[in-house]
Amino acid sequence: MSDAPELDPPSAPPAAAQARVARLRAELAHHAHRYYTLDAPEIPDAEYDRLFGELQALEARYPGLRSADSPTRRVGGAVLAAFAPVRHAVPMLSIQTETDTSAGGALAFDARVRRELELSDDAPPVAYAAELKFDGLAINLRYVDGVLVQAATRGDGETGEDVTQNIRTIGQIPLRLLPLPPAGEGRGEGPPPAVLEARGEVYMRRDDFERLNARQRELGQKTFINPRNTAAGAVRQLDPAIAARRPLSFSAYGVGEVVGWTLPPGHGRLLDALSAFGLPVSADRGVVLGPAGLVRFHGDIEARRDQLPFDIDGVVYKVDELALQRRLGFKSREPRWAVAHKFPAQEQMTLLRDIEVQVGRTGKLTPVAKLEPVFVGGTTVSNATLHNLFELRRKGVRIGDTVIVRRAGDVIPEVVGRVPGARAAYVPNFHMPRACPVCGSAVLREKGGIDHRCTGGLFCAAQRKQALLHFAGRRAMDIEGLGDKLVDQLVDGGLIRTLPDLYTLGIAQLSALERMADKSAANLVAALDKRKHTTLARFLYGLGIRHVGEATARDLAHHFGAIERLMDASVEQLLEVDDVGPVVAQSIRTFFDQPHNCEVVQKLRAAGISWPDHEGSADTTPKPLAGKTLVLTGTLPALTRDEAKALIEAAGGKVAGSVSKKTHYVVAGAEAGSKLDKARELGVEVIDEAGLRALLAGPAQRMSLA
Ligand code: IVH
Repeated sequence: MSDAPELDPPSAPPAAAQARVARLRAELAHHAHRYYTLDAPEIPDAEYDRLFGELQALEARYPGLRSADSPTRRVGGAVLAAFAPVRHAVPMLSIQTETDTSAGGALAFDARVRRELELSDDAPPVAYAAELKFDGLAINLRYVDGVLVQAATRGDGETGEDVTQNIRTIGQIPLRLLPLPPAGEGRGEGPPPAVLEARGEVYMRRDDFERLNARQRELGQKTFINPRNTAAGAVRQLDPAIAARRPLSFSAYGVGEVVGWTLPPGHGRLLDALSAFGLPVSADRGVVLGPAGLVRFHGDIEARRDQLPFDIDGVVYKVDELALQRRLGFKSREPRWAVAHKFPAQEQMTLLRDIEVQVGRTGKLTPVAKLEPVFVGGTTVSNATLHNLFELRRKGVRIGDTVIVRRAGDVIPEVVGRVPGARAAYVPNFHMPRACPVCGSAVLREKGGIDHRCTGGLFCAAQRKQALLHFAGRRAMDIEGLGDKLVDQLVDGGLIRTLPDLYTLGIAQLSALERMADKSAANLVAALDKRKHTTLARFLYGLGIRHVGEATARDLAHHFGAIERLMDASVEQLLEVDDVGPVVAQSIRTFFDQPHNCEVVQKLRAAGISWPDHEGSADTTPKPLAGKTLVLTGTLPALTRDEAKALIEAAGGKVAGSVSKKTHYVVAGAEAGSKLDKARELGVEVIDEAGLRALLAGPAQRMSLA
């Protein structure tokens, strides 16, 4: 960590402050465990933030009280040039993979174990610990006297990389081990182990991954390919602030070096103990007997694979008894007592029959593969996305090819690539149409962009349908009963051209539609009416402005309060909203520059759509440094002077050129000069870059880790 040059604390911490800091840390650690690991918070977020803020303030006041296990240290590390190498005290091994995905794989492992242990046929079955095989990145967490001092990647097994700063940002990982309960394994309430290395996998949940990508799309930034690579990339981020914004999870599955603690006799109980120490350990595990137990576990997890909130690529079996593990030992750097048993791939081969083009809500044209139906990942797939023309070209697929289709979890099926092989004499390459297949408007690609778009706007029936479905969606206006079949009928029948037309629909008109009973018509009219009173955020999201997702809509509603102010806002004013960048700001401005869009808003309001006034005040972005004056001196480890100044000003603070009694903080870096002396002379609080980041984060920073 990049601590500033040693500075004299402004005053020695009184015993009361010391006690309060210890108490706050213990309470915060307890609540973080309840929140992140057990998913059972006991206090509201605001209360957590209050405690966190109090601890931050005390640590800022008495730098002597700062410590490695303080929850305030989860954020604020310096940007690194490279990771330091870490030599593992105990090598981090990998495990053998059983590629036979049928029950045979489990039987083969059990037979090997019994042979190696020279067990006779009538000897009792071997007990195995069975676990999930997480698909992420292996990490070694080193706790010395109960405090997390280092986190390292596996690397080549002998030497990994020091990724402590990034790992600290994972809320699930305890910075200090909990004392074991007296009834538990080990030492009860006694001191923590002198050394305990916990090993496990850092991974990303699928919902966190989807949310992250939704956010990226909103910000007009590139999306991530899959949860595994995203998690691995985040752990190896040199800037911990970026790592902190990637929602990571952890699950422990073993130990490395252990000193001063007696291991329980079995692996299952070892994991129980790790859990009692406060480390996250998956509940989907067990100790099973013999090959029958392994096969049952494998089948059970395979059946539930899609419902798990994260990706796994199989299960892991370990001989439970540690004494037996020692007897079995290793073979070429792999333990003989463990094996990974894979699941059948969620990929299949099939024939690409045709490529169709679909038009989305924003006019984006997506090439869709029409496939010979194939059973993959638990369902029959006959359509799969090819994303865009560039992806299609990169994969080099043509109609008539045999392709690989992948479906994982609830991700939309996609064509991964083609199976190399002979192709019919001549297959023309696929081209995007020049005219929209739905409305015939010109298709354009933005300069430098990857997407082709129909320029028809709401003239295009496809865009109109998608716009209506989006507007009626659960997260927008939440209009029950307005599904795609009905929207097709309404648009194709010419009943609806723009969004406000929805509210002119009468029961008689609707009942005249095919398959529409009087009752359903009345229900729809009632549903439309019921949701007329909404929130500004939902309404904005429902308008379907490009790059404005739910989170941005909320931020905009909060920031501007009234829709007129948003509609009048300049790009510069839009840029003042948290997380609104140039792409988003321009998109909003362009939207409201179109008279027909403003007309839609007006008509919808005239139709009776309303929301509470003043959903947010003019500017409610937190200003943790409001009223504070700071002076910068010396070279900070990561921030340039301009960057530091911009951050301070954005947080409501002022940057002054010289130190006076009115200065609240002096931010000192390397080679700080006379300003530092002056600060000491006047008793002005001196902080380093980490301290500045903590101030900037404000008490609400915890949410950014969630
Ligand atoms: S045990 C000596 N258990 O799979 C045994 N590994 O090649 C060490 N993994 O590097 C590993 N889930 O990254 C073990 N429940 C689990 C696991 C697991 C995922 C990863 C780990 C390891 C690789 C095995």
